Amino acid sequence: MAENQSAAKIKKGLIVTGMRPTGKLHLGHYIGVLKNMVKLQDEYECFFFVADWHALTTKFDSTQDLVDNTNDIVLDWLAAGIDPEKCSIYIQSHLPQTAELHVYLSMITPQNWVERDPTLKDLVKMIKTPDGDSKPNVSYGFLGYPVLMSADILTFNVDYVPVGIDQVAHIEITRDIARRFNNIYKTELFKEAKPLLTNIPMLKGVDGQKMGKSFHNDIKISDDDETTTKTIMKSITDRSRARKDDPGHPDKCEVAFEYWKAFAPEEKIKQIQQECIAGKRGCADCKRELAALINEYLRPIRERRKYYEQHPELVKEIIRQGDEKARTKAEEVLKQVRKTVGMYQG
Ligand code: TRP
Repeated sequence: MAENQSAAKIKKGLIVTGMRPTGKLHLGHYIGVLKNMVKLQDEYECFFFVADWHALTTKFDSTQDLVDNTNDIVLDWLAAGIDPEKCSIYIQSHLPQTAELHVYLSMITPQNWVERDPTLKDLVKMIKTPDGDSKPNVSYGFLGYPVLMSADILTFNVDYVPVGIDQVAHIEITRDIARRFNNIYKTELFKEAKPLLTNIPMLKGVDGQKMGKSFHNDIKISDDDETTTKTIMKSITDRSRARKDDPGHPDKCEVAFEYWKAFAPEEKIKQIQQECIAGKRGCADCKRELAALINEYLRPIRERRKYYEQHPELVKEIIRQGDEKARTKAEEVLKQVRKTVGMYQG
């Protein structure tokens, strides 16, 4: 406990980040984001949440998997090493303060700010109407996507938001909204949260395209060893190499060598590289060894996931406590917001 308290004191600031519940997480999520979240929880006071309201912006009419998907994200986080003793894991829809702040922020956000949001434009292209029409039926709530995201961030008035490069435009809007709020209400209440970008690029799918479950090119954190091995064996290597004792080109190996770099220690990566260049490492053997390494790497993570799967009450309790810590922190900010805006004080 004493150790915990002194550790808390030296934390470098406040962080929040969220993920939409779209299904089980894969190695792209793990390498691109999750591994970094595990590291950040030691250095910052962190709030990690499942963005279930954001899921509704596009999937309001198909909520049958929402509960399972929400649970899966939390299980994958805990499995990967997100530690509820070090951070708060909460569900977005359990934090009414965010919904309230969203109302205040939506009043001061000019309409054209949300309409020109480039990330939103990309999302619009992806969503379809319930009858499969490709012209999307954009709702009022969907247009508010970046405003709701600003509310997530400003609910805690955080310093940093760890995100992938695709989310940076949303953080820009958050800063604009924070600045506008401060100007309108003549206050310095809101900080301008900065994106924390990882320099680790997202891992590609085994076919060399963006990793995603709909492309059938992903390896889930929760997959078993056999499925993982089968998928890795399909991964693309050096397309110009015909025979296994031809000299290989690790730098032209599109997927397998990238995975080696993501999971193997430095020494091992060098060894692989040298053997490949010398024509002493056939691609099939190399991938079999890679699959074994990845399964080994994921073993403790998968065991932890199983443990939490078998203890649903414990997971619920972790979320209850995370919700509670998030509410306490958020309420401190909201008190100031209500006062600053000029609302009736009870
Ligand atoms: N939009 C993010 C995504 O699609 C999820 C998200 C919602 C988020 N609110 C956030 C991320 C606030 C960071 C901070 O991945």
